[in-house]
Amino acid sequence: MNEPDKGAHYIKSTLESPLSGEEAVLRPTRFDEFTGQRKSIERLQVMVGAARRRGDPLNHILFSGPPGLGKTTLALILANEMEKSVRITSGPVVEKPGDLAGLLTNLEEGDVLFIDEIHRIPKAVEEYLYSAMEDFRLDIMIDQGPNARSVRLNLPRFTLVGATTRSGLLTTPLRSRFTLQTRLDYYDRDDLIKIVNRTCRLLNVGIERDGAGEIASRSRGTPRIVNNLINFTRDYAQERGDGVITRDMAGAALELLEIDARGLDEMDKRALRAIATHYNGGPVGLATVAIAVGEEPETLEEVHEPFLIQEGYLQRTPQGRVLTPRGYEAVGMKAGGSSQTSFL
Ligand SMILES: Nc1ncnc2c1ncn2[C@@H]1O[C@H](COP(=O)(O)OP(=O)(O)O)[C@@H](O)[C@H]1O
Ligand SMILES: [Mg+2]
Repeated sequence: MNEPDKGAHYIKSTLESPLSGEEAVLRPTRFDEFTGQRKSIERLQVMVGAARRRGDPLNHILFSGPPGLGKTTLALILANEMEKSVRITSGPVVEKPGDLAGLLTNLEEGDVLFIDEIHRIPKAVEEYLYSAMEDFRLDIMIDQGPNARSVRLNLPRFTLVGATTRSGLLTTPLRSRFTLQTRLDYYDRDDLIKIVNRTCRLLNVGIERDGAGEIASRSRGTPRIVNNLINFTRDYAQERGDGVITRDMAGAALELLEIDARGLDEMDKRALRAIATHYNGGPVGLATVAIAVGEEPETLEEVHEPFLIQEGYLQRTPQGRVLTPRGYEAVGMKAGGSSQTSFL
């Protein structure tokens, strides 16, 4: 998980990544290094191409989608492709209108301000964002009581790039100020295999074709998980084999991590199992499931549930979450029946 940055940091060179070490090596920096998400990429390329041709700043862009799919990566790519600097912050860090003013007045024409988790920006700050995005100005109140007065700050024409795992929590006025709102989806198997091979190439790790397939199919459609699994599998292959990630090596490593053949982890399965055994397959409210498995409702909803729904293990109905036959099968059970296999 990437923690929200405490305070913003300024990336001077447009080609630098804010992260160090392997993360930085692996993060694509250009459109042509970014695999998948064809629709979003095409939209972005059109906007970047046109903005550059006109010499205008890029319009404001909002990325939504589950964690680990490339929202931050794309924000950095946009700045690179525009040859501009990027300043990175996160919704909860921008506590007061003054924080926002500090960020915005330090930008130069065309720079990118990236606000991660933008749905968590305080309401009082959000209202200032409207005029900043629309008219590139901020009317800030200074002083209090009889001396209170409003000061207008003119801002450089900047680009706001927002990212959110919960686009549903964004207010309509904020959402509508983004020219492009684009959703990232889970990656398909072919794209995941490409990402596996790219990561192994960059890390100098030997991998066989079957090994790549094994990791791809167990990474929940998520590049961040691909990279994490490769890291662990590489260690495993070095400790228990000759360093090459074969299918067997990958299988054994992932078994040790308790990631099953479908890519489901322990928490996914606990949630499915809880719905099956305690709530008779549902419908049951998400908050109730969260208590049953000892996880934060937000984490279940943002991290686990989207994948379980997309892959057809779980359904979201107006009455609550309902387990599908496939969901029962994933935890070795049958709808309305009892456990077929032991998984203790
Ligand atoms: N399309 C992609 N191709 C290759 N690697 C990717 C791709 N998308 C994401 N990654 C990798 O996955 C990791 C997570 O991506 P990130 O942009 O931080 O996700 P998000 O911000 O959506 O949570 C990054 O370190 C990056 O290296
Ligand atoms: Mg991110």
